Amino acid sequence: MDRIRIRGGKTLKGEIRISGAKNAALPLMCTALLTDKEIRFDRVPDLADITTMTNLLAQHGVEVTTKLSGKERSVTLCGSNITDTTAPYDLVRKMRASVLVLGPLVARHGQARVSLPGGCAIGTRPVDLHIKGLQQLGAEIDLQEGYIVARAPKGLTGAEVTFPKVSVGATENLLMAAALAKGETHLINAAREPEITDLAKCLIGMGAKIEGLGTDHLKIQGVDSLHGVNHPVVADRIEAGTYAMAVAITNGDVELIGAQHDLIGSVTSVMSQAGVEFSETPRGLRVKRTNGDLVGVDVMTEPFPGFPTDLQAQVMALMTTAQGASMITETIFENRFMHVPELTRMGASINVHGASAMVRGVKRLTGAPVMATDLRASVSLVLAGLVAEGDTILNRVYHLDRGYERLTHKLSACGAEIERLSDGAAE
Ligand code: EPZ
Repeated sequence: MDRIRIRGGKTLKGEIRISGAKNAALPLMCTALLTDKEIRFDRVPDLADITTMTNLLAQHGVEVTTKLSGKERSVTLCGSNITDTTAPYDLVRKMRASVLVLGPLVARHGQARVSLPGGCAIGTRPVDLHIKGLQQLGAEIDLQEGYIVARAPKGLTGAEVTFPKVSVGATENLLMAAALAKGETHLINAAREPEITDLAKCLIGMGAKIEGLGTDHLKIQGVDSLHGVNHPVVADRIEAGTYAMAVAITNGDVELIGAQHDLIGSVTSVMSQAGVEFSETPRGLRVKRTNGDLVGVDVMTEPFPGFPTDLQAQVMALMTTAQGASMITETIFENRFMHVPELTRMGASINVHGASAMVRGVKRLTGAPVMATDLRASVSLVLAGLVAEGDTILNRVYHLDRGYERLTHKLSACGAEIERLSDGAAE
């Protein structure tokens, strides 16, 4: 199994190109199930989760073609011949975003059988909001042998759906389904993440009628059919935030090419308070420390436009060597502190009390063999490794392959001493 070795202490200098967002590309690819016309997405990141989604769509009968031009990948999808409306357990278990095929399949094909995803490393993560919302649009849904079995032989009908809790995935599933429902749908208390706005823009490009982009109230007027589109995937704000923290933790100076400041306002605000300077450039965002040490700042994760849960582990790594204390509170997922014991093994001082972690800055971290059980926890250990004294060996690299395109290349091009080892040695 591959591992990553990092020799800490190098300062990052130069530039890093931000990829298209994984969490935008995954729902976008599902729109292929809504039309028989060809759809092309540019700037699709080369990630394990994208491969899983490609395999799932192919199993439904979608034709998928991938093209590389320079470092950018475009993916063309054509769902003119859907042959199978089942999303099997083996694929859904691998990647929860597979549940995003449910809305499009039932909206256009009148039926879907999608495995229930079950819990995962960061929490129980139910899909009740996806199911209830689709039922409100008229789908008949049963749970049979671990599968969500949905039927709407006469199509879906628009309705007013008020989400009791903000959910990115449920908003995306309902938005896609409502695009083809008869009449008007209101999604109230909808998630406002930029990936949802990107999905809405793509759907509008396909002929959907959607108002309220970027707000918590989306109004969708259903149409009979949708057509093809050519859509570029929005920049990955979580990748941009992660590299901004890598720059800050190493006291570096890097331009993040393609990073969009307006998508990470809550992140730059926290980091600015901690002593990091951001300046917009014609190509993106330049990051460096204001001067001197980082200082501890309190952070609470919230739905967009709040501080993203997907950057909580990374900001915790950043705070481990800051001056003073930092209280980090996770409000989205109930079990997203798996990085804490590993950071502690590297010398960090962190105490967890319920949903909050108190980080007391230490003078230095030391390298250690570490591993984590999810994507963002894993990358937080990479950040810690970049500043730790000595070698950090990160196991279970496959988590990083799910969400960070060419991570070791991007960091080593800026001077980090980081390499991937594929010697097959035991964890
Ligand atoms: C998306 O997951 C992202 N995944 C996650 O990114 C991200 O952490 C999360 O949104 C929050 O921002 C993708 O976009 C593919 P939710 P999603 O539905 O849609 C509860 C990463 O590292 N909930 O917004 O699954 C749920 O348990 C990942 O890239 C219900 O109770 O998240 C959670 O507590 C991991 N019932 C909260 O809502 C439901 O039916 C928010 O989850 C659905 C969700």
